[in-house]
Amino acid sequence: MSTVILYATKHGTVAKCAGILSAKASENIQCVNIKDSPEFDLSPYNKVILGASVYVEKIQKEMSVFCKINREGLLEKEIGLFICSGDTGKAGNRYLKLFGEEIYDHCTSKKLFGSEIYWTKMNPIEKFAMRVIKKSKGDSSDLEMTAIDDFVTEMKLR
Ligand SMILES: Cc1cc2nc3c(=O)[nH]c(=O)nc-3n(C[C@H](O)[C@H](O)[C@H](O)COP(=O)(O)O)c2cc1C
Repeated sequence: MSTVILYATKHGTVAKCAGILSAKASENIQCVNIKDSPEFDLSPYNKVILGASVYVEKIQKEMSVFCKINREGLLEKEIGLFICSGDTGKAGNRYLKLFGEEIYDHCTSKKLFGSEIYWTKMNPIEKFAMRVIKKSKGDSSDLEMTAIDDFVTEMKLR
């Protein structure tokens, strides 16, 4: 069984979660930023984990495009999906469908891994938008370690 984590990130939280997953796994897992490898070849892998973050209710375009182009290939694999987003519960769970409805229905595990906010990494427009959403101006890390552990178990990574 070989596994790959393909991820899209803007400020690094999804990359951090990919690293946590790979550190918790018993096998060696390759983590690939989809932005650097938009034509990544899935054929050698049995399990594919897709991770992305949400900005203004959308995941990264590179990830949506990759999922559309590789829809058939992905549906032949065991798939896990995770999202980093400020929204949790029902509001957050609907973002998991942004990988595509068929991929969502086919996947073995799907989880929200929480969010991180780092003001110094935001551009002025993002800072403006965040000031409207968040009252606090402080950085925050709210990763859902239980969801990450459950995902590791459900995907049989360990
Ligand atoms: C400008 C901005 C817009 C965001 N929009 C949303 C949103 O619409 N819904 C949501 O749940 N989270 C939203 N978030 C929270 C991010 O999804 C969260 O910070 C995530 O951890 C970012 O992951 P990344 O660093 O891998 O890109 C937003 C964050 C920023 C800075």
